[in-house]
Amino acid sequence: MEEIIPKKISLSGIQPTGIMTLGNYIGAVRNWVKFQDECDCLYMIANLHAITVKQNPAELRKHTLEAFALIIACGIDPQKSVAFIQSQVPEHSELSWVLNCYAQFGEMSRMTQFKDKSRKHADNINVGLFTYPILMASDILLYKSDIVPVGVDQKQHVEIARDIANRFNGIYGDVFTLPEPYIPKDGAKIMSLVDPTKKMSKSDENPNGFIAILEDRDSIIRKIKRSVTDSEAIVAYRENKDGINNLMTIYSVVTGKSYADIEKEFDGKGYGEFKSAVGETVADYLEPVKERFNQLMCDKAYLESLCSQGAEKASRIARKTLSKVYRKVGLA
Ligand code: TRP
Repeated sequence: MEEIIPKKISLSGIQPTGIMTLGNYIGAVRNWVKFQDECDCLYMIANLHAITVKQNPAELRKHTLEAFALIIACGIDPQKSVAFIQSQVPEHSELSWVLNCYAQFGEMSRMTQFKDKSRKHADNINVGLFTYPILMASDILLYKSDIVPVGVDQKQHVEIARDIANRFNGIYGDVFTLPEPYIPKDGAKIMSLVDPTKKMSKSDENPNGFIAILEDRDSIIRKIKRSVTDSEAIVAYRENKDGINNLMTIYSVVTGKSYADIEKEFDGKGYGEFKSAVGETVADYLEPVKERFNQLMCDKAYLESLCSQGAEKASRIARKTLSKVYRKVGLA
């Protein structure tokens, strides 16, 4: 008989702060979709994390549901994976309190994102911003996650989750699984279209720097047409050609072609032609995502039923871990 090897558990989350960009899609969500066949996956809209910076309530509510619809539209299959909204699973907040008491002030003070964000939001250095990584540790540890796909900026948070888990296990025995960060290597960091030395970001003041997943076709094509390149007029992946390299990365991800293939395809052709091809291809690529998103947003009852089913599934798993923690600590 064939031995059944249990699948690894993978969890990741995304904050519902505004629009999702092509960068988020290529850098994160696309990999989430691929992971669904290899692991038991959980994907979460991290709205509790979002309130560590000021939010407008109506917008937060809207963005949370949209973000949920968008990950489904991007290919997260609610039958295969557990997709849910963080605030709908109260175990996250509950475990978070307990773990607060097993994290040290000193180690939390060293978190680079906290230091960056305190600088950026100097008027609102709230304690939630400080304990943000502990909530994230709760997200991860509740589901016994083995793997946590994240961007480089979140690696330190996964490591602190691991440290906290290890410490807790040292006192109470085997309660938590030690998670590992997974940082996708396949060159999929997408840069700003107006400054290709910076990461593509939805918070870019210049909207020409990013492409939103839901952006309309003409606007996508126009932004790529206008993107900053160089004066060499050679489509090649090389040092000092950040703009072209970025467009080549995008084109490569979207078409599956290698850089060598792309160089051949545009040999002797100008940037105008290359940019049109990239623009058209990206627009075609995002078309079905947009369509599925619009369908979901038109059927709120169905969308909300997906949310509550996801939250229920998540809660069933999370509740087991939390109960064990409560028993170990002496709270139950
Ligand atoms: N902090 C992550 C980010 O901003 C989002 C997140 C919240 C997350 N909880 C998580 C990612 C748990 C991975 C696992 O990108």
